Amino acid sequence: MTSMIPMKEFAERRRKLMDRMAPDSIAIVPAAPERVRNRDVLHPFRQDSDFHYLTGFGEPDAVLALIPGREHGESVMFCKERNPEKELWDGFLAGPEGAIERYGLDDAFPIVDIDDILPGMIEGRSRVYYPLGKDHTFDNRVMDWVKIIRSKVRAGAHPPGEFVALEHLLHDMRLYKSAAEIKVMARAGQISAEAHCHAMKRARRGGHEYNLEAELIHTFMEHGARSTAYPSIVGGGANGCILHYIENAAPLKAGDLVLIDAGCELECYASDITRTFPVSGKFSPEQKALYEVVLSAQDEAIAAVRPGNHWNHPHEAALKVLTQGLIDLGLLTGTLEDAIANEAYKPFFMHRTGHWLGMDVHDVGDYKVGDAWRVLEPGMALTVEPGLYVAPDNTDVEEKWRGIGIRIEDDVVVTKDGCRVLTDDVPKTVADIEALMAD
Ligand code: GLY
Ligand code: MN
Ligand code: MN
Repeated sequence: MTSMIPMKEFAERRRKLMDRMAPDSIAIVPAAPERVRNRDVLHPFRQDSDFHYLTGFGEPDAVLALIPGREHGESVMFCKERNPEKELWDGFLAGPEGAIERYGLDDAFPIVDIDDILPGMIEGRSRVYYPLGKDHTFDNRVMDWVKIIRSKVRAGAHPPGEFVALEHLLHDMRLYKSAAEIKVMARAGQISAEAHCHAMKRARRGGHEYNLEAELIHTFMEHGARSTAYPSIVGGGANGCILHYIENAAPLKAGDLVLIDAGCELECYASDITRTFPVSGKFSPEQKALYEVVLSAQDEAIAAVRPGNHWNHPHEAALKVLTQGLIDLGLLTGTLEDAIANEAYKPFFMHRTGHWLGMDVHDVGDYKVGDAWRVLEPGMALTVEPGLYVAPDNTDVEEKWRGIGIRIEDDVVVTKDGCRVLTDDVPKTVADIEALMAD
């Protein structure tokens, strides 16, 4: 277990969460379950983000209980016991001893004993925080533990009366990234940027979309990022207009653009980069014209990421540039104000300009507080990803524009006086892309 996040930071997160919980409460957080891929083959295990955030513990079949004020330890782990025979087949298990020694939990028990032990820990606590409604199986388990307590009320047991979604507290914490988290995210961004550069260079040799996907995965793995943060999108030509295109199987055609939206996951932190570039290494006049619009929309949106601005400011900035660009190039008519008010841009730009980024690619955290957009604060991480997509069957525009899909996406963190771009090691101006590809 090597982690760029020090173990004491995980302990600080547990402390902070408990400080925010009601005093006579308990929080229960399950590890992710293992999932079958086919017959006896499992999907590669990915820890639940909330569980990882609080423990750094990478095994399935585990439950964390946080019990403020518990005399024998407030942070309690239930996990698999060590078993030399099983470990010979499936690899190392930390065991309850390891949960304490290696991961700094206060107390730990075998997961097989949880039904005997946890109800006694819930008993007498009036409020239970847990990921309410996220997973039916776990909802049922929590209720089963409560039923055990209810069956003992005549003996004086006090079952809890309130069940509260854990994410209100926890996801607000996750929204603000620490210096150590930003370091991991910056490293993930660097690796992904390098992967995009390799894919750009590879494109000139032609082949299929999956050849570029292979280049990405190769670079991620070379740097120890064993997983993508989401399935890579490699769309040549009009496939770039399909927002979640993951087939990645079509031949690459000289003269087309190719849109790559891909990022690695490192230590459970996502990166998320999109670049769009010509297969042949040289933009056509129409491709270049639309590309320049998207690029300046992104520049304006990034400039709008600073403390005091709210969540929607970068989107509004991008929308103005994109819509004005469509008018200037003749794809839309009328005034900017009207085109924005009537959402005339929607056939060309149908998604938002970004999302929170963190352990989950579309990370947790509220975008609004009540009815007001969230104000940006240092430590918040987000993507900035405007795009323009001209559907191949859009007969409202001249034929020369049809089938061009462009998105440019970078990862940024809000700083004291603006923002830091974590993914600027991959070129994005027309000149820089053409230079890299000619290299
Ligand atoms: N790759 C997913 C997204 O850009 O939101
Ligand atoms: Mn994104
Ligand atoms: Mn993306």
